[in-house]
Amino acid sequence: MERVPVLAICGSLRPDSLHRALLTAVQDRAPRIRLMGAELVRDLPLMDPALDRPDSLPSAVREFRMLAEACAGAVIASPEYVHAPSGVTKNALDWLAGSTALYGKPVLLLSASPGQTGGLRGLAGLIPTLLALDAGLVDPVSVSRAPRRIRPDGEVTDVGLDLRLEIAVEQFVDAMAVGAAPLATR
Ligand SMILES: Cc1cc2nc3c(=O)[nH]c(=O)nc-3n(C[C@H](O)[C@H](O)[C@H](O)COP(=O)(O)O)c2cc1C
Repeated sequence: MERVPVLAICGSLRPDSLHRALLTAVQDRAPRIRLMGAELVRDLPLMDPALDRPDSLPSAVREFRMLAEACAGAVIASPEYVHAPSGVTKNALDWLAGSTALYGKPVLLLSASPGQTGGLRGLAGLIPTLLALDAGLVDPVSVSRAPRRIRPDGEVTDVGLDLRLEIAVEQFVDAMAVGAAPLATR
């Protein structure tokens, strides 16, 4: 069975990242999709419009855009830093500005934090950007007290989180099958 390619963005560069663990947990629950490119964001330069020309486009940006265009959706696991989105994630999305890479495609947002809000404010800050890119958002998942509920290898140790991830993955895969309409047209 050929798996559906899905762009993965991990907004944390930290070894043992809870967000990489969430991506692993999603992959474990979605055998029909193949999460790809989670580490590409590490190589993206900081957004510089002067580089965004055919003769000077960095190869990492070209690779990232081509993958995003080829994928049927995206799963973005992104931390909250100082009550705002991770700059790593925002920078990656900025490189998709002006492209149709996420147009009408389902996007599942995930966050995790040791704190009580689970990184929700970081996700909230990404929503205007994703709407501007015409992504089709599905219900996001924010995980509070995350180190008690998921291990760095992606093993989920909390029944409630296990169920929430199952539901989120099912919604996301269903949305890809249907082909989500851009939010602006709903
Ligand atoms: C610079 C910095 C700022 C942070 N700010 C917040 C914050 O505003 N809210 C929050 O819930 N956690 C915050 N945290 C904690 C992160 O949620 C926590 O480190 C989380 O595990 C990061 O994700 P990771 O495990 O994937 O690296 C911050 C961490 C760092 C390093």
